[in-house]
Amino acid sequence: MVSLQNQKVKPYTGIEDVQRVGLAVATCAERVGRFGFVAKQLMLIEAGKMSSVANWEFKAALGRQLWESTLHWGIWRDRIAELRAHEHLIERHVEGPLQDLFQELLHSENDAELAEGLYAVILPAYRAALEKYNAETNPLVDQPTVRAVRHVLLDLDDHLAFGQTLLDAIERDQQAGLSAWGQHIKLYLDAAGGIDGTGPLRPAFELPAPRHRGDFRIPNSFARDARFSTTLPKINPFNETTVPEAMLSKMWVRSQEMTAAELCATVLFEWEDLPYAGYVDLARHCWDETRHSLFGQAALEAEGQPIETLPSWVGYAKHTLPAYPQKRYAHLAIATEANQMSYPGGKRGEWEWCKDKAQHALMTTYQDFDWADEVNHVAYGREWLIRYYCKGDRTKAQAMSDETVAERQAYYAQFADATKP
Ligand SMILES: [Fe+2]
Ligand SMILES: [Fe+2]
Repeated sequence: MVSLQNQKVKPYTGIEDVQRVGLAVATCAERVGRFGFVAKQLMLIEAGKMSSVANWEFKAALGRQLWESTLHWGIWRDRIAELRAHEHLIERHVEGPLQDLFQELLHSENDAELAEGLYAVILPAYRAALEKYNAETNPLVDQPTVRAVRHVLLDLDDHLAFGQTLLDAIERDQQAGLSAWGQHIKLYLDAAGGIDGTGPLRPAFELPAPRHRGDFRIPNSFARDARFSTTLPKINPFNETTVPEAMLSKMWVRSQEMTAAELCATVLFEWEDLPYAGYVDLARHCWDETRHSLFGQAALEAEGQPIETLPSWVGYAKHTLPAYPQKRYAHLAIATEANQMSYPGGKRGEWEWCKDKAQHALMTTYQDFDWADEVNHVAYGREWLIRYYCKGDRTKAQAMSDETVAERQAYYAQFADATKP
């Protein structure tokens, strides 16, 4: 019989330092509450800034990071409820120095300022606060938080590694001005006692004058960096006369879905009374549309057609941003996506065309997952527009969506002559 040398097996499931006195439950709840507030603010800033960030890669990364920040907020919300505490420990920071810190970051004036505040100051401080937490709490009694911290750190490390590429890309002659902005954000962080509140508190009277005066408003256009030329109306640079050309045309359409992602980000930022699950769905919707755009970019790149050499359509900003956020979302989730579920044609039809007609292996994979995502997007529209916002009144939701279609047609009427063959 084979037997174990029992004393050689690691005790405490592999958890070490179990006799560390650690932190009290109330202290843990207090810090987790701050982490929750930070994650929620990161979600809001990433969503509020995505459409006005010009650099294409930064924009796409915000699409991903805002979804991951939303999930992190949920992790902290769940944990706080297990620590004899309540979500109000997160929400109460809405008045106070942590809120002021994020308001300043929200008022970054360009890509480089946002990158500096986010990746050179706030995320490194968040990372350090999480590591400090795990170094101080008892790893056995507080194992669920320790595990949560480790999982959040996995994502944060990705965000920071990406962010470093942005910081490295900052023009040298602008670095001095940017350090001043970084220092400005750092002082506001100090006034909050750091991310976790354990640092010395810098008195508010020592702070530089705030950048923010009044509410932040998302600009009424979608920014593109200097590599791109934008197009209005939506004119596909490829035609459908041959299968290879029609394939390129489909790739370009995918690549332009960044506009759908930008629309989702603006809705997430402005829709104030959504339940947590609604923010998760909107954030995911944003990241899915970002990914779809990257599918198109990657497919075009493989065909020797870099995306920045092709026209970039920015139309959604023009005809949907004037509408309130729910109506704006109805244009995407009801007027556009729900119609793509019909077959023949629709999302399934696109996938079949790539698989059977064009026999393009990579686009078949892309369209397969695009179709899977789109099924979920239609469900998000049903849940948050019809059931939640319109209280189950399908006709009201449809009317809201129909109005957006009429507004889109009215907007594009001005280009009617330009688009005639
Ligand atoms: Fe999509
Ligand atoms: Fe979609």
